[in-house]
Amino acid sequence: MRKVILACIALVLATGPAHGEPTLDIVVYGATGDVGSHIVQEALDRGHHVTAVSRKPAQLEMRHDKLTVVKGDLLDKESVTEIVAGKDVVIVSVRGVIGDSGAPQSALQFMAAEILVDALSQQGDRAPRLLHVGGSGSLEVEPGVRYAAKLPRVFIPRGLEVEILGQILALEFYRKVDDVKWTYVTPPKNFTNGPRTGVFRVGGDEALRDKRGRTRLSRADFAVALVDEAERAQHLRQRISVAY
Ligand SMILES: NC(=O)c1ccc[n+]([C@@H]2O[C@H](COP(=O)([O-])OP(=O)(O)OC[C@H]3O[C@@H](n4cnc5c(N)ncnc54)[C@H](OP(=O)(O)O)[C@@H]3O)[C@@H](O)[C@H]2O)c1
Repeated sequence: MRKVILACIALVLATGPAHGEPTLDIVVYGATGDVGSHIVQEALDRGHHVTAVSRKPAQLEMRHDKLTVVKGDLLDKESVTEIVAGKDVVIVSVRGVIGDSGAPQSALQFMAAEILVDALSQQGDRAPRLLHVGGSGSLEVEPGVRYAAKLPRVFIPRGLEVEILGQILALEFYRKVDDVKWTYVTPPKNFTNGPRTGVFRVGGDEALRDKRGRTRLSRADFAVALVDEAERAQHLRQRISVAY
């Protein structure tokens, strides 16, 4: 009997999500990206089912029995509605600028927020939660002053500036949304390729600094924070920031 119990515990530890949380069905937009690929790996490692979305699914080399890869484009609302239906959590970790208007509204991060909120609000109580990977330009570096306002504009490519402003617009947009369970998860200024440590801090609107004044986090640890939020839903309709 003792052997059977130990075998069951081992099986749960080997296959189940961390922290004893239930297995989730998670959609990841941006699964082929630098950040999204870590999120997919972290979610799979914790035993969740992941639907990885890409406009060119053949790009995704990862293979796993709990991974489904589908073709999808965030700009196609019909496909978005179909892909997210019946899932528990949708994670959006994308970047891009559509057209050449130069307006923050043309940042994919903002357009994605509008399209996903529209699709999810139509699904009522059955709608999945939405986790948006935000931009550090929206963080306050001093009271009332965002990091975006401190950027040396002449050195920043126009497309990147549009994305930074688009991420701020997306946050302002979410803050008016009360019929979708969203969380805007903001990385620090510097993403690193460092290891997964599982040790980081979670804050709010202010940029978190480590003892040496740096605002940084590995992509692997950002993925831990994001999947923690997917599992625990501790920050509904809030913006959080994550850093060492
Ligand atoms: N310090 C910071 O604040 C900071 C630093 C880096 C990144 N970020 C944020 O992190 C997020 C991810 O950045 P990243 O560096 O991982 O980007 P990335 O490596 O350039 O990946 C971009 C992703 O966007 C997806 N994508 C583009 N257009 C799409 C569309 N129309 N429909 C669906 N997916 C689309 C791409 O998927 P396919 O090509 O496979 O379709 C790709 O996986 C962004 O929100 C970015 O603003 C923040």
